[in-house]
Amino acid sequence: MSTVIKGGTVVTAGDTFPADVLIEGEQIVALGQGLSGDKVIDASGAYVIPGGIDVHTHLDMPFGGTVSSDDFFTGQRAAAFGGTTMHIDFSIQPKGASLRETLDIWQAKATGKAVIDYGFHVAITDLSEALLEEMAHCAEYGVTSVKLFMAYKGALQVDDTTLFRAMQQAAKHKLLIMVHAENGDAIDVLIKDALAADQLAPKYHALTRPPELEAEATARAVRLAEVSGAPLYVVHLTNAGALEAVRLARARGGAGHIFAETCTQYFFFTKDDLAREGFEGAKWVCSPPFREKHDQVALWQGVADNSLQAVSTDHCPFWFEGGKDGRTPGKELGKASFAQIPNGCPGIEERLMLLYTHGVRTGKLSLNRWVELCSTNPARLFGCYPQKGAVAPGSDADLVIWDPEAKRTLSAATQHQRTDYTLYEGWEVVGAPRTVLSRGQVLVDNGEWKGEAGAGRFVHRRPFGL
Ligand code: URP
Ligand code: ZN
Ligand code: ZN
Repeated sequence: MSTVIKGGTVVTAGDTFPADVLIEGEQIVALGQGLSGDKVIDASGAYVIPGGIDVHTHLDMPFGGTVSSDDFFTGQRAAAFGGTTMHIDFSIQPKGASLRETLDIWQAKATGKAVIDYGFHVAITDLSEALLEEMAHCAEYGVTSVKLFMAYKGALQVDDTTLFRAMQQAAKHKLLIMVHAENGDAIDVLIKDALAADQLAPKYHALTRPPELEAEATARAVRLAEVSGAPLYVVHLTNAGALEAVRLARARGGAGHIFAETCTQYFFFTKDDLAREGFEGAKWVCSPPFREKHDQVALWQGVADNSLQAVSTDHCPFWFEGGKDGRTPGKELGKASFAQIPNGCPGIEERLMLLYTHGVRTGKLSLNRWVELCSTNPARLFGCYPQKGAVAPGSDADLVIWDPEAKRTLSAATQHQRTDYTLYEGWEVVGAPRTVLSRGQVLVDNGEWKGEAGAGRFVHRRPFGL
């Protein structure tokens, strides 16, 4: 069975050209003019882009005294509605578990539910000698990126010995080290000081995690990576100081092994959003926190000049009023103290639309750079290009037919993310997916769901640089 996408403009990271796209089974087999197939999908007036790849998500994750509210079905379906056809989720090592056991726990969460293709990073919280040895097997597991948290003291945080030893092992086995870069020890002191001073409102979340402590941890991680020889990817970078640390490292010869992403929401919000009326600010509680306007300007500059190579979402949704209706608890856990608010925000659905509207349409990003940041670079950096992230013969037919003029109003009432709010309530976007395909199968067509639970597959990724 073949499908031809006809009459569209193909947009890749490097090119923009009119072409039909012919799909046989699960893969693209040809690009050209006048192609025909058993089934025709009309793409006139639209772009044909590689499906979005979001390398930073937390589905069904136990965190902050509860569990993130999207599972692998609801979260992936929301991703597909927004034009994302692959994501890489963080499997977090329960203390004492092996890497294999950790990955099996996360695989069980996805099995039978997945609707798009997915991979896992493994997050190390407890590094034994056995675990260090087991890192040699990551490539065989198809999981070639290892995350360490430099914050969340007493929970996920590791010390520098652990971070550095993991880096040394990663260098040996061509694994990409990912860090949540904030100085968790200093933050812990600031949180305790705030609580002692009865400073309990959501805004203190941002005030106890100042940008300098992210910049310091970023610079430290970069230097440790340089000494160890490990490739490094800094996740959810938020501010000008942290960006400077990455920029300097890339300028002193690290452009091939020091990388960083930011996340959609950091372009749009500031710490003032945490000070909204009453408890409303809790919706904006995530780590690192929102910063200042000048940091947003720095991030736009960073994605334009390639100091930042990807934009992800850090999708980690919680209900605002979760305890209601027997749902999992959510942000209300922190009504008495900001320190108990589960950290994280929804966003897997909105990324491409927001970056198209506020990046491409405003001239901050070219069309090709938008594709590169949201799909191609994630695939390149995380070992699955050109299977993913490309519109080319031999690539998986993970494709989005993008209507550049479609208007949508973002709202909790119409979103597919399983939570009761969106950070972007009432925002209008221009440019949205018309049709979304995963390995040749239509998942979303003109706003209608056509996908099937269980159809998404685990993507076995290559080691870094191979
Ligand atoms: O607040 C956040 N970002 N929650 C998810 C966990 C993490 O740090 O990425
Ligand atoms: Zn993080
Ligand atoms: Zn995260």
